Amino acid sequence: MRISVEIKDDIFWVGALDWSVRDFHGYSTMKGTTYNAYLVKDDKVTLFDTVKKPFKGDLLHCIYKVVEPSKIDYLVVNHVEPDHSGALPEIMEAIKPEKLFCSPRGKKALLEHYHREDWPYEVVPSGSEISLGKRTVQFLETRMVHWPDSMFSYLKEDRVLISSDAFGQHWATTERFNDEVPGGELMQHAAKYYANILLPYSGLIQKLIAEVQKMDLKIDMICPDHGLIWRENPLQIVAAYDAWTRQISKRKAVIVFDSMWNSTATMAKAICDGLAEEGVAAKMMDLRVDHRSDVMTEVMDARAVIAGSSTLNNNMLPRMADMLTYMKGLRPQNKIAAAFGSFGWSGESVRMITKTLEEMKFKVINPGVSLQYVPAHEGLRQCVELGRDIARAVKAEG
Ligand code: FEO
Repeated sequence: MRISVEIKDDIFWVGALDWSVRDFHGYSTMKGTTYNAYLVKDDKVTLFDTVKKPFKGDLLHCIYKVVEPSKIDYLVVNHVEPDHSGALPEIMEAIKPEKLFCSPRGKKALLEHYHREDWPYEVVPSGSEISLGKRTVQFLETRMVHWPDSMFSYLKEDRVLISSDAFGQHWATTERFNDEVPGGELMQHAAKYYANILLPYSGLIQKLIAEVQKMDLKIDMICPDHGLIWRENPLQIVAAYDAWTRQISKRKAVIVFDSMWNSTATMAKAICDGLAEEGVAAKMMDLRVDHRSDVMTEVMDARAVIAGSSTLNNNMLPRMADMLTYMKGLRPQNKIAAAFGSFGWSGESVRMITKTLEEMKFKVINPGVSLQYVPAHEGLRQCVELGRDIARAVKAEG
């Protein structure tokens, strides 16, 4: 789809759909994504954000449906990451804007990416406003949502918040609005996006939400730079972010594991039995088939993480090392945890996993279960007991 969509009077979506992307530096985007840009027709015609470099033609195509690119007066860069600014050099060439608005850190990042001293930068401090004619744009710095340079642009009279990475989803659709797609699926994409991109910045996002609430911005529409626009009840996604920033968990455990000859997988099943016997929901995530980014979506609202790996060459299996490195970087908090795994002769994996869980400041409540070769009745009983132990700790937290 390469058509512009008028989302409000004289405000147009002019982005690009990327149906084929399947990996976003480690995050599996099995349903593609979109790079959203927005064009406002006013006395000063203004483009908010651009797209990833290979999609510059799609962006220009959409712009042409609304105006000649050379008629654009202002360009706003809300975020410098190349999925939103990669096409900037060519777009700057095509439109030659009078001004390029960005945050103070945005200017620094643009210079460090594109090395163009000659662009007409206008640095806009947080809270500052510009007039487009009938409209006012207010800028709000949103550091680390998702980079230090990030900011929001708020179209005051239209009550439209252009929110850059915040409130986005990686989901390519021809529909443009949240009320045109199934709400449950949309929220699942939004949760995965938060868990895999924004989770480490939860503290800052919580402060940002409080700041926006204090400013009492009237919001009719939230326009992120990825995925669907929140038109129907847009504040539902702000409420979801409020819960995710506080890392509110459910009575749920994630059992994430990798296995060589199914001994560790059998142990995982017995642990799941123990959790079920105590009435705690469990999600089995087998790293041989489940992607690390889907595991993180489940971890986000789980109260416990139980990680298991066989020992291979005095180490944990590589997929578990990958998983724990990824998880550690995303900084999930307030988790109860334990480790388990099978081994042939040395058996380091449980100790190594436990150490990493402790480094993540998880509450490791059980020394874990390490079993040699193929688990028998007594070993599996220990696994069931581990599951019950975790379940009791989960329930004790409410
Ligand atoms: Fe969608 Fe941080 O870029």
